[in-house]
Amino acid sequence: MGGGVRADPAPQPAGDDILNHISPIPHSTVPDPKSSILFVCLGNICRSPLAEGIFLHAARQRSVADRFTVDSCGTGGWHVGERPDKRARAVAKKNGVELPSLARTLDAPRDFERFHWIIPMDRQNKADLLDAGAPKDRTRLFRSFDPALASAPESDIEVPDPYWGGDDGFDQVFRMISDACEGMLAELGT
Ligand code: 4NP
Repeated sequence: MGGGVRADPAPQPAGDDILNHISPIPHSTVPDPKSSILFVCLGNICRSPLAEGIFLHAARQRSVADRFTVDSCGTGGWHVGERPDKRARAVAKKNGVELPSLARTLDAPRDFERFHWIIPMDRQNKADLLDAGAPKDRTRLFRSFDPALASAPESDIEVPDPYWGGDDGFDQVFRMISDACEGMLAELGT
């Protein structure tokens, strides 16, 4: 779990009990519909922490940040506990955006109960989430919220993985994510 704006974790049993314990979420802690968002990528050090940070930044600019709970995670666990990639931090800093999260992996099925929107960056992330039991009606490719891409096929609306490329890939991804955040905030009624 990183340091972003997070839903409070439910108390968990200690030791081996945790492996056999599924704690139902009390009704009072179920988030308001549409107000909790989990951004998901592969490593949780490039795209999804940028999405989390940029979304919060855009929400703060509209003075609506307190309406949302946002978090991010990865489907892979190679970077658990790490800060975002230094190129992601650089492009965020250049644009005045904070990236507070530390990398964590998907916590299924609990994340599907805690977050209304499950938002993958690419089709592979989405397939992995659905395989892990994510609810189809609440799992949506991030860029589908960009109104300019409303009728585009899913193959054309992925946020490409910038990890193996150069710095310019991070600038492109930053712009894509910013546009998707604006569309998401508009669609969620702010
Ligand atoms: P992300 O990028 O999914 O946008 O965080 C990646 C970061 C690390 C790796 C893959 C993708 N990796 O294989 O370590």
